[in-house]
Parts: sequence; C-alpha cells; structure tokens
Amino acid sequence: MGQLEGKSALVTGATSGIGRAIATKLVAEGAHVFATGRRQTELDEIVGELGDAVTAVRSDISDLDDLDRVFSAVQERGQGLDLVVANAGVGTFASLEQLTPEGFDYTFNANVRGTVFTVQKSLPFLGPGASVVVTGSTSASRATATFGVYSASKAALRQFTRTWAIELAARDIRVNMIVPGPTDTPGLAGLAGDPVADREKVQALLEQEASHVPLGRLGRPSELADAVVFLASEQAAFITGSELFVDGGQSKI
Ligand SMILES: NC(=O)c1ccc[n+]([C@@H]2O[C@H](COP(=O)([O-])OP(=O)(O)OC[C@H]3O[C@@H](n4cnc5c(N)ncnc54)[C@H](OP(=O)(O)O)[C@@H]3O)[C@@H](O)[C@H]2O)c1
Repeated sequence: MGQLEGKSALVTGATSGIGRAIATKLVAEGAHVFATGRRQTELDEIVGELGDAVTAVRSDISDLDDLDRVFSAVQERGQGLDLVVANAGVGTFASLEQLTPEGFDYTFNANVRGTVFTVQKSLPFLGPGASVVVTGSTSASRATATFGVYSASKAALRQFTRTWAIELAARDIRVNMIVPGPTDTPGLAGLAGDPVADREKVQALLEQEASHVPLGRLGRPSELADAVVFLASEQAAFITGSELFVDGGQSKI
C-alpha cells in the first residue's frame, strides 16, 4: 500500500525534470495526479507511462484561463485535492544591463504570478489535512551574476510560502517549500544551450554546478520527489512554512 493511496494531487510543470519525477513518484505511492505543462507531446508520454492514474491538462501557468481549465478538470473528477505541487518554473541568464521588460515578465509571470494563482485557485478544492508544496531554489538566497530575475522570483515564492502557511493554518492546510540545489534536469542543462548542438557547453555547466555542491554531484529529480512525499505525509503533520533543502549542502557554504 502506497503512502498516498486514494489521494489526489496537482503537479504543475510535470512534463520534465523535477515535476515529472514528482508526478511519477506520487502515482507510485497511490495518488491520482493532475499533470500540467505547455507541451502536449510530453503530456501524452506521461499518460502513456502512468496510465489512468494521471489526468493531463495542457496549460500555461501564466495564463489564468488555462488555470481555470486545470481546475475544471479537478472539479469534474469530484475528489478535490490533497496535495498541490506548484513546481513549474523557468530561468534565463540576463544581467541588469541585458534585461528586457519581456524577459522580466516571462520569468515573473511563470514563476511568481503563475504560482500565486495556481495556489489561490486550488483553495476551494483543499480540505483539512491538505498540503501545498512550492518549488523554490537555492538561488533565492545566493547572488549569482546574470541570474537576478530568477533568484528574485524564487525569493518572492519563499515569502509567499511563509505567508500562506500562516493564512491557511486555521484550515489545517500546510504549506512548505522544497529547495533544490543544482539538479540533473533538462531545465538545468538548457541554461547552457541545446543538449546536442552545445554538448560541451552543457557538460561544462553541469560539471561546474556539481563542483559547488559539498556532496560532489548534482541532485536527482527523484530525490526532490521523495521530499515532496515526506512533506505531504502524516510524518510532516507539524511542519509548515518550512524550506526543505535538497541541495547536497550547497546552501550551507
Ligand atoms: N534543475 C535545477 O537545478 C533546479 C534548481 C533549483 C530550482 N529548480 C526549480 O525546479 C522546478 C523544475 O525545474 P526543472 O529543473 O525540472 O526544469 P525543467 O526540466 O525545465 O522543467 C520545468 C517544467 O516547468 C514547466 N513550465 C515552465 N514554464 C511553464 C509555464 N509557463 N506553464 C506551465 N508549465 C511551465 C515545463 O513544462 P512545459 O515546458 O511543457 O510548459 C516543465 O515541465 C522549477 O521551478 C525550477 O526553477 C530547478
């Protein structure tokens, strides 16, 4: 019997990397998962892999109408949500001088606005004992040149997580953040370019990122998924407003 047997979960950004590993793990633990992302082919792949334990809804997190379609699907299934994993996120490199209003909006609309309204719109579906997990980043507390907008977006999410933990405590809904360090995903590799055309640059970035981690390697997406299962479980019943670092110690140096 899985730890989440009979539970219902929403995972945004489930088409790739960490979100995909989370969706896979939640299904393995017995949950039904609403999986979202903008790419239909990847969503079809997930349904192919995980079968009818998944409801895939193509949606852009920064589009409110798309979000409404996600929650219509939740409503239609009629079992509410026990867990919301607000994971979808984007990051691009741009210094203050290079930054454009469009680049700023792209990151903030997905990471901050998209997460805020995902969680807001999930509220009618969450009952006592439900849990929200937001994906943060160690970048929220470390300064990296050219990564300011992304880092600031994740710092904003940390503050929302803490605020929502206080606001939703009276409803017995817990809100926590997982904080990945550099994790081996298409998203991290994509910061260096195309995985085929820019193979050497991608490899160099991954090695450089791993070299800053005390445990000496990148994180695995499944390790973040394990942290989500813990935060959603009874074992974490007294944990809210917290940040669970899954970063090989990176944030401590
Ligand atoms: N990998 C790392 O080293 C690392 C470190 C710290 C934090 N994180 C955070 O972890 C989360 C997952 O990242 P990842 O590394 O797994 O990246 P990834 O492989 O690029 O996956 C990102 C996911 O977010 C979805 N997404 C992006 N923009 C979206 C939008 N506007 N609407 C809906 N879905 C959207 C993508 O789906 P579509 O493309 O199909 O829309 C994809 O499923 C992000 O929040 C990221 O900031 C990652």
